[in-house]
Amino acid sequence: MTKKLYIKTYGCQMNVYDSARMADVLAPLGYSPAETPDGADMVILNTCHIREKAEEKVFSDLGRLKPFKQAKTGEGGDMIIAVAGCVAQAEGAEIMRRAPYVDIVLGPQTYHRLPEMVARAARAVPGPDGKGRGILDTEFPAEAKFDFLPDESTAPGVSAFLSIQEGCDKFCTFCVVPYTRGAEYSRPTEAVLAEARRLAARGAREITLLGQNVNAYHGEAPDGGAWGLARLAYALAEIPGVERIRYTTSHPRDVDDALIAAHGDLAQLMPFLHLPVQSGSDRILDAMNRKHNVALYRRLIDRFRAARPDMAFSSDFIVGFPGECDEDFQATLALVREVGFAQAFSFRYSPRPGTPAANLETQVPDAVAQARLLELQDLLEQQQRAFFAGMIGRTLPVLFEKPGRHDGQLIGRSPYLQGVHCLAHPRLIGTIHDVRITEATLQSLGGKLVLLGDEAASAA
Ligand code: SAH
Ligand code: SF4
Ligand code: F3S
Repeated sequence: MTKKLYIKTYGCQMNVYDSARMADVLAPLGYSPAETPDGADMVILNTCHIREKAEEKVFSDLGRLKPFKQAKTGEGGDMIIAVAGCVAQAEGAEIMRRAPYVDIVLGPQTYHRLPEMVARAARAVPGPDGKGRGILDTEFPAEAKFDFLPDESTAPGVSAFLSIQEGCDKFCTFCVVPYTRGAEYSRPTEAVLAEARRLAARGAREITLLGQNVNAYHGEAPDGGAWGLARLAYALAEIPGVERIRYTTSHPRDVDDALIAAHGDLAQLMPFLHLPVQSGSDRILDAMNRKHNVALYRRLIDRFRAARPDMAFSSDFIVGFPGECDEDFQATLALVREVGFAQAFSFRYSPRPGTPAANLETQVPDAVAQARLLELQDLLEQQQRAFFAGMIGRTLPVLFEKPGRHDGQLIGRSPYLQGVHCLAHPRLIGTIHDVRITEATLQSLGGKLVLLGDEAASAA
């Protein structure tokens, strides 16, 4: 009998990847994906701890799940509620206390043990009124979860994620990731390449390599040595069907010469890089323990542009980090003006329990941080608008992914990860075609398919 599994994913792409792998590991137990928690046999919240808001959202969503569970037990059924991901790792006991109807709390490195936990939950009689079974696993196991997860059970989309690296050893003073994901670990090259071959064979044309610090990758290779990210990208580019390669998130400190050179050599490596800088002030970067300064960041941007002139950049910024004064903030604005970003994320500093910066006495008043955030976001939005508008009149290769909102329309992505819509036959899904861009908004592009000769005949 098939059982319904509802998974909600918060946070970064690593969690998106992990959610798919949890579905894979539960498929042999008879669980298949459901669109809603209503009536589900199992619900997993795959959570994010990065900022306070993300965490609070989990607790409010848990509150909303309780009546679903009670309704299910009221009908003589059962609903297993599991909390996975980074909040599970950081706040395991607190979750059990605040939401006693949760059955399983499991950390990000334990997903290969999920079937065992589900079996234990199924054996335990559900408590009265939906009380949970109290199963907690937040160990950092000695073994790597990747070695024990089954092959992907569901077909990938045109664009697929592939985790190659987990955890982080950088310990930026604001960040929970080293505590929630554990020490840095790189998957062996053969495992990565085998997964990429499977994805390509099942229709993936774009592969995004994932890691909390993806360019720290140093996977063990069959020759006994370790490959960096660049070497891995060259090998991936040889796999038939892999037409686009991306990677995220990179750390400026771990960019090496080989990676910059690869952007010049490999047509498959997309000319768009998410390279978080966090601040434009050396004093703040130092207090953040970022291990790079502004000059290094500028130099990297110049070198990437020299290797690949059409390279565009995205970044992350934190404003209102403890001790940030107006001069520091002005330095951030100056760096943004100088680099010119295609797109970027910016956040107000959020003190996280257990991180060094949370204890600093120089916290920036909320109103000041909020005003800075708005000013920075205004500038970043202007740059994004200009970047998107600058595409009008250009012809971009677009990888078509799915039908669009309007009849006869397809949606795809430009090399710069911009959504592009145009009229095109569904047969073009999974292929790359030139589109002449005629319109732009802040978030998307529209245009006309440029088809020549045979292509035009077969797409008609
Ligand atoms: N590994 C990546 C990003 C990890 S988290 C890197 O090193 O850049 C994604 C982004 O969330 C970070 O780049 C940072 O801008 C933001 N972030 C992390 N911790 C934060 C905090 N305590 N408050 C506000 N933003 C935070
Ligand atoms: Fe967090 Fe810094 Fe590691 Fe990125 S590099 S995950 S910001 S500790
Ligand atoms: Fe969030 Fe954990 Fe990713 S804290 S950003 S889900 S690594």
